[in-house]
Formats: sequence, C-alpha cells, structure tokens
Amino acid sequence: MTESTATSLSPTDSDYNSFPQIPTKRVLVTGGAGFIGSHLIDILMQNGNDVICADSYFSGSKENVAKWIGHPKFELMRHDVTQPLLVEVDQIYHLACPASPVHYQHNAIKTLKTNVLGTLNVLGLAKRTGARLLLSSTSEVYGDPEVHPQVEEYNGNVNCVGRRSCYDEGKRCAEALCMDYHRQHHVDIRIARIFNTYGPRMFFHDGRVVSNFIVQALRGESLPIYGDGLQTRSFCYVEDLARGLLLLMNCDYIGPINIGNPVEFTIKELAEKVRAKVNPKLKIEYRQMPKDDPKRRQPEITKARKILGWEPRVHLDEGLQRTVDDFKSRAQANPKNLFIMHQTEAKPVDDDDEAEQQPPASKTMDGSYGAGEGGPSVVEAGA
Ligand SMILES: NC(=O)c1ccc[n+]([C@@H]2O[C@H](COP(=O)([O-])OP(=O)(O)OC[C@H]3O[C@@H](n4cnc5c(N)ncnc54)[C@H](O)[C@@H]3O)[C@@H](O)[C@H]2O)c1
Repeated sequence: MTESTATSLSPTDSDYNSFPQIPTKRVLVTGGAGFIGSHLIDILMQNGNDVICADSYFSGSKENVAKWIGHPKFELMRHDVTQPLLVEVDQIYHLACPASPVHYQHNAIKTLKTNVLGTLNVLGLAKRTGARLLLSSTSEVYGDPEVHPQVEEYNGNVNCVGRRSCYDEGKRCAEALCMDYHRQHHVDIRIARIFNTYGPRMFFHDGRVVSNFIVQALRGESLPIYGDGLQTRSFCYVEDLARGLLLLMNCDYIGPINIGNPVEFTIKELAEKVRAKVNPKLKIEYRQMPKDDPKRRQPEITKARKILGWEPRVHLDEGLQRTVDDFKSRAQANPKNLFIMHQTEAKPVDDDDEAEQQPPASKTMDGSYGAGEGGPSVVEAGA
C-alpha cells in the first residue's frame, strides 16, 4: 500500500479542518452505518482515505452514509461480522455491535455472537492482512463500578448473568480476544473504552436520556426526571469521540484507554438545557427513581490526555444545540419520526436463528427501533 498525504475532499468544510491529518490508508469500518461509525467515516473520507463500510443495518442505516455513496473512495457493503470478511485493508475500526440496551437486548444471543464471533472474524482478517485493528469497547466493561471515576486499571464489577451481560461480557470477551491475538499472534490492536456519547444521527427512540429529552420536548411533552434529578452523567460529543478514536488508531499505545467527557452534569441541568433550546414553556416533572439508576458514571481520561493529547472540545451547550437542530430537521422531514409505530406481531426472541436479522419489538417511522412508549424513559444506559 502506498501512502499519500491526506487531502481534504471538501476543503470548504471547516468542521473537519480541526481533525488530525494522517497519511491516507485503506480503512474498514465495521458498523460504519451506525451513529458513531458514520461520523468516523465522515472524517476518514474528508481526510482522503479509501473507506469500506461493512454493516448489517441492524441498528444503523444507509442514510447515515448516503452522502458518500457513489464516491470513488467509498464502498458500502451489507455484511454481518459474524461471518468472515475477505478484504485488503491497512486499518480496521471494529464498531459493529448494537450499543443501546433496547437494541442489544432484543436478541441477546446475537449480541454475544456479534461481540465474540464478529471480533474473532475481524481479528482473523487483521492477522491475515497485517492490518491494525481498533476495538470500540465500552465503559460498560466496568459494570456497576465501585470506583469513581473509572480508571483503566479498574477491573470492573460486572454481573455475568444479568440482562446486560450479553453486551458487557460480550465486550469484555472482545477485549480479551484482542489481547490474546496481540500476545499470541502479534496482531496490532488498539482498545478504546468509549463512554456515553451523543450527537446528531442518534436514534429518536433508543432510551437514552439525551434523545429522550429532545424527542419529548419536540413532541411538546413535559420532561420527566426520576428522583431529584441530582444524579450526574457525562456526555461526550460524537465528533470529539471520533477524533479520539482516530488519534488512538494512529498512535503507538494499544490501550485500553478511556475516551469520554469527564465533565459531569446533573440530569436536572440537562433537562433545563434541552427545554431552553426546544421550548422554554415546557414543564419538568419529577417521578419516582427506578431501583437500578446509577448515581454517577464518569470517565478518568488522564491517559487519553497524556498519550493521545486528546480531550473533549465541544461544550454540552454547543453539542446539544447541534443535536437538537439535527433532531428538528429529521422530525420536520418526517414528523412521524417523533412517534413509535408498534409492531404488535413482534414476539419475544428465544432463539437467535430466526430472529437474527429481525428488528426489536417497536419500530420508529424512520426505520430505527425504539424502546416503546413504555420503555426506559430516563435511562442513562451508557453503552
Ligand atoms: N454510543 C455510545 O455512547 C457508545 C458507548 C460505548 C461504546 N460504544 C460502542 O461504539 C460502537 C458503535 O456504537 P453506536 O452508538 O454507533 O451504535 P449503533 O447501533 O448506532 O451502531 C452500531 C452499528 O453496528 C451495526 N451492526 C450491529 N451488529 C452487526 C453485525 N453483526 N454485523 C455488522 N454490523 C452490525 C449496526 O447496524 C450499526 O450500524 C459499538 O461497538 C458500541 O458498543 C458506543
């Protein structure tokens, strides 16, 4: 592979000028049609890379990468990572995995297969091609943490038999596989532990607090807060996160490394910010706190700061404004996006075989899948 210097494909697009300019490569992004993957692809394409996006469209959508379809340096493949993939690349960003609980719990066995078989397949690809592989792991590997903020050395407190374990333990296994391929076969790996991320192209109905508040505000409903609203969360803007992944991929440190925004906001502050941006007349309603609502989740990012020279740049006010604008324009394009169309014929998933490619129980009009009206309302699921 010959390397050329990165050239911006849209020099007028000032948003991308602040991203690191790195020699161009042939890059595979699994899960590239999803929320984070599509933002990462925007940067990779703007930097002149040859990009292959491989996605099963389980929780992602072609719309997220539509602007690159037809570009000579972009290739979109419908591919399920639980099957092997034969391509020639220099770098692999392995993001394929549903990230919100409503998606990953829909078919827990499939989530485990995606994490375990999918990661094995891409590690095999990296081993054969000599490509560097970056795993998008998660803060959920820390489980219900007893240590705040969570440092990379903390081994976590995960329930291996709970409903979330398909995701938490799946990602822990994916990390273990990466480390063992690195130790045993010298596969060049990077492990990013991503904390709660938000921004444009999030699902309307994924049960996360940012999207829930925005959707409820756009519907003109009051914003529900569980408990006193003083529980804190930290939110990383998606472009900051994507820049962190890019830096990690192109540095010498294998990780694991936390990437997230350590600045904490209370849920009450978040609700007030969303209300101010969408409709200041909306009410905030206090409801009873669910039992398992974590009080706090916060990344410790000293390593990212020191090793990658990375830290979040986009303040919550600015990121929220961009997110609200994106939700508004998608809702204007199709107002039904704000409401969920229930698929009453949907049945619980017992086995993975017939249901592997089937959507969760409720589907929004934009083709993404949601928690349902009775689903989690202010869950900071993390992912
Ligand atoms: N969003 C967050 O806050 C967050 C936090 C921590 C970690 N992560 C990780 O980042 C990655 C991307 O998350 P996201 O928020 O963009 O989620 P997302 O659901 O929007 O994107 C995941 C993508 O993977 C695809 N996918 C799922 N299973 C697949 C399979 N078997 N084969 C091929 N493609 C498959 C989906 O169709 C989707 O496009 C995930 O690995 C997730 O675990 C996200």
